[in-house]
Amino acid sequence: MCGIVGYIGYREAYPVLINGLKRLEYRGYDSAGIALLDNEPAIFKCVGKVSDLENHINDNPKTGHVGIGHTRWATHGEPNDVNAHPHQSMHGKFILIHNGIIENYTELKEKLGNRGYTFNSQTDSEVLVNLIEFIYQKGKVDAEMAVRLALNKVEGAYGIVVMCADEPDKLIAARKGSPLVIGVGNDEYFLASDATPIVEYTKSVIYLNDQNVAVITQGELVLKTLKNIPLTPNIQQLSMDIGEIDKGGYDHFMLKEIFEQPRSIHDTFRGRINLAERTLHLGGLYHVMPKIVEAKRIIIIGCGTSWHAGLVGEYLFEDLARISVEVEYASEFRYRRPIISKGDVVIAISQSGETADTLAAIRLAKEAGALVLGICNVVGSSIPRETDGGVYTHAGPEIGVASTKAFTAQVTVLAMMAIQVGRKRNFLTDDQYQRYIQELTQVPEKIEKILKLDSTIHKLAEKYKDVNNFLYLGRGYLFPVALEGALKLKEISYIHAEGYPAAEMKHGPIALIDHHMPVVVLATKDHSYDKIVSNIQEVKARKGIIIAVVSEGDTTITGLANHTIEIPETEMVFSPLLAVIPLQLLSYHIAIMRGCNVDQPRNLAKSVTVE
Ligand code: F6R
Repeated sequence: MCGIVGYIGYREAYPVLINGLKRLEYRGYDSAGIALLDNEPAIFKCVGKVSDLENHINDNPKTGHVGIGHTRWATHGEPNDVNAHPHQSMHGKFILIHNGIIENYTELKEKLGNRGYTFNSQTDSEVLVNLIEFIYQKGKVDAEMAVRLALNKVEGAYGIVVMCADEPDKLIAARKGSPLVIGVGNDEYFLASDATPIVEYTKSVIYLNDQNVAVITQGELVLKTLKNIPLTPNIQQLSMDIGEIDKGGYDHFMLKEIFEQPRSIHDTFRGRINLAERTLHLGGLYHVMPKIVEAKRIIIIGCGTSWHAGLVGEYLFEDLARISVEVEYASEFRYRRPIISKGDVVIAISQSGETADTLAAIRLAKEAGALVLGICNVVGSSIPRETDGGVYTHAGPEIGVASTKAFTAQVTVLAMMAIQVGRKRNFLTDDQYQRYIQELTQVPEKIEKILKLDSTIHKLAEKYKDVNNFLYLGRGYLFPVALEGALKLKEISYIHAEGYPAAEMKHGPIALIDHHMPVVVLATKDHSYDKIVSNIQEVKARKGIIIAVVSEGDTTITGLANHTIEIPETEMVFSPLLAVIPLQLLSYHIAIMRGCNVDQPRNLAKSVTVE
């Protein structure tokens, strides 16, 4: 969370920074700021979005070829002008932007206070910039050494970019725990929390590793460790395209990303499925496949939507590969003293690849000797770099804060893994293996069909946009989809929603049901169809409003429900990929009708790099 950008080169820095902040705004949008160094430092910052910052600085001069910018997701101190970044040190020598949390900031603040430092903001970041200045002035060292020495005293996470008024043609960047990418152009450098602000200028990038420091002057980059050991920069080529990060004619990124799912799922299995032979090949798991096949237990970890994908993974691996699975919230797993054995396989699921709790959980699992795999979307992010193997989702950049196409891509990867492992463990026959592969390739087309129901779902949204509560019910593979449907609705429309296994309704939530309560029931044809029909009857008997997602041609439920949304039939194991689509659209339309900002819901951020 928080997006940071930097530029040093021959261009005017301001447009690069402001456009970069717009691309990173999904990471936080409580306040924004920019600092330029053109002889004298100039800092502009204000509470609100990047567009508010743009309006705020419109009349002011904004020149300079070196600059930094920040879009904030508040951790320490409420969102206001003073707490906005960049922060300047008390004597004006240093300006800093920071993504992360300085955990020992209270102690450092007190020490600096004893040496005469005063603070304007409530942030931990202002403490860090003052610590750098204190070391610089007291130790009479250069800016780079002051940054390194200060960082050696810091506990916590940081991605920072620092400017020094005495050394105006220089940016100093460092990371620990929070991501930082450097774009390498011709005589110019770009810095950002992810590659999206960089890709329009250059495809050559360096992903900074933890405890690395980059010292960038006009035309030169020096990479070293915090302990001053020189490093050779590893320049990689981005495969991302600029077109992938535009709205592409849609009103919102979320809608674009919902509609992209036929393609993103196809991209996720493309190159991994050989349709002629009906075989699967997961290159990132090739070297560890024997260990996965032998695994006694799989532990899947994730947060939010990725955790929901993990729950689908539990059904898939137990069903198809007969391996026992536990699905854990990363935040609980890491602090629970979990029992992890050498034979365990841990799969971390994360769109961003940067979620702090998930990252900490995989480190714990690695230390305990487990084989650690990743299912991530952002290439080069921290989780894939720290795992023993894994599979990228290839969903393309997901900019809308609410996860949509990442979820279906994660489930696609989990399905491919379970099918592959199931075949190798002989729990799937060749016929079943080939049938599943064949059916997976049909999923994008079936989703295209569901997307055509958009206007029907729009009408449904109109009817229920003003209710205060929603219940979502599903059984088996569709229980995690019920959770995901409820999460989508609450996070973007701010309507309270709960997801439940349908049979659990009788154990409490049924008390909530009356004629005001819409109940979304996922009731496609599978082995628990009769049971879910009974659950629908129970809701109906209490006058609940039933919105049922059913298989095409269903007549039983159509006769019972107030509304039905028909989706194509598929193998039960792929049903989450289809059933989630109408729920995404329903949330989207309701949120828009309620005037909510669907791409940037309040209080949320896309990449949760703090615990
Ligand atoms: C919900 C959502 C979040 C993320 C969660 C994990 O729509 O986007 O719940 O799923 O913050 O993020 P990643 O997958 O990046 O680890």
